[in-house]
Amino acid sequence: MDTKTLLEWSAKYLTGNYGRAPICLVRGDGMRVWDSDGHEYLDFGAGLAVTALGHCHPQITGAIREAAATLLHVSNLYHTAPQVHLAKLLVEHSFADKVFFCNSGAEANEIAMKIARKHARERLSSDRYEFIATRNSFHGRTFATVTATGQEKYQHGFEPLLPGVKHVPYNDLRAMERAIDSRTAAVMVEPIQGEGGVNVPDEDYLPGLRKLCDATGALLIVDEIQTGVGRTGRLWAYEHAGIEPDIMTVAKALANGVPIGAMLCKADVAAVLTPGTHGTTFGGTPFVMSVALATLTTILGDKIADRAAARGRQLMDGLRALKTRVPQIKDVRGKGLLIGAELTRPVAPIVDGCREAGLLVLSAGEKVLRLAPPLIVEPADCERALEIIGAVMTRVGA
Ligand SMILES: Cc1ncc(COP(=O)(O)O)c(C=O)c1O
Repeated sequence: MDTKTLLEWSAKYLTGNYGRAPICLVRGDGMRVWDSDGHEYLDFGAGLAVTALGHCHPQITGAIREAAATLLHVSNLYHTAPQVHLAKLLVEHSFADKVFFCNSGAEANEIAMKIARKHARERLSSDRYEFIATRNSFHGRTFATVTATGQEKYQHGFEPLLPGVKHVPYNDLRAMERAIDSRTAAVMVEPIQGEGGVNVPDEDYLPGLRKLCDATGALLIVDEIQTGVGRTGRLWAYEHAGIEPDIMTVAKALANGVPIGAMLCKADVAAVLTPGTHGTTFGGTPFVMSVALATLTTILGDKIADRAAARGRQLMDGLRALKTRVPQIKDVRGKGLLIGAELTRPVAPIVDGCREAGLLVLSAGEKVLRLAPPLIVEPADCERALEIIGAVMTRVGA
């Protein structure tokens, strides 16, 4: 079918909630994807920070083939080896004692909020149910997680939202100190705000939150859905801060593009999830678990987080050098391969211009260009991306 007809049918048959670029992607390999007209693109978005090992990585494709031919689905009424092995691997490589598997980031945050509330009510006091999240955060689109998301544009029209959620400015320990009290069940934060503009907090922020939570008995939920699985140059972004959360949520890169979510927590928190208290039909099926196991094993075995750190430095240095020539770049920030360039102008024409020049990039809010390439990106790919970004910004102008 020709591209024009596909785009017409897309508009006719799909809901209109996505602002899509006018191309149809048909194939991927490593760092590259191709559209239905045969154009090639360097992928610096990795979906939305998902395909950490790139497209059609041989280990992942192999795991998909093998799992599909072995056992696709059984319910959580039974044990399956891939689920147990993945949970063990995650526990051995994190602060956590226990893992719950689901299907998406929002769903992982949903159970994180549910478990935190149940924990507070049962272990601390019956009127302890509040959450404190941060402005500009992004935690998902379900009712609870869109309430926790500190951006009104995502909430508008869906009110009334979940009761008991407060927001304070990000990276502001004083504000958190004023907000947290004996009714706070949990504080929920991203170690770096992704969708909200690639906002990197000060070094003392997460340690400060840890102290405030310890002093009041509130749980610390770290949302690593975008930052986790090596993206920031460590396996988990909380490791940069030298603290441990009580609960962590993971999704996106964990199965390199096959839908997955996971909530990891300490044993005393997990203890409130007794049989029947929570569940999901598709979470933790042997197919998805096998793919995630192959993804995580490769990320650990190939030291992919170290590669992300090195390529991240290259890209940030390149963007900072570009900033001296291109006045529309106001700030360059990030960690590892989660990088934002804040512009003085709307970013949309830059994203479009890069795509037309063969580079897929993301935005984060109205004025931030976000780069989140696969973590396997090579130095030459970074050079090429910087060249395209520089040329497009110069052409589009301020
Ligand atoms: C930090 C963070 N939390 C939660 C989510 C929601 O994940 P999902 O879209 O898989 O529901 C996202 C998605 O972008 C995210 O970046």
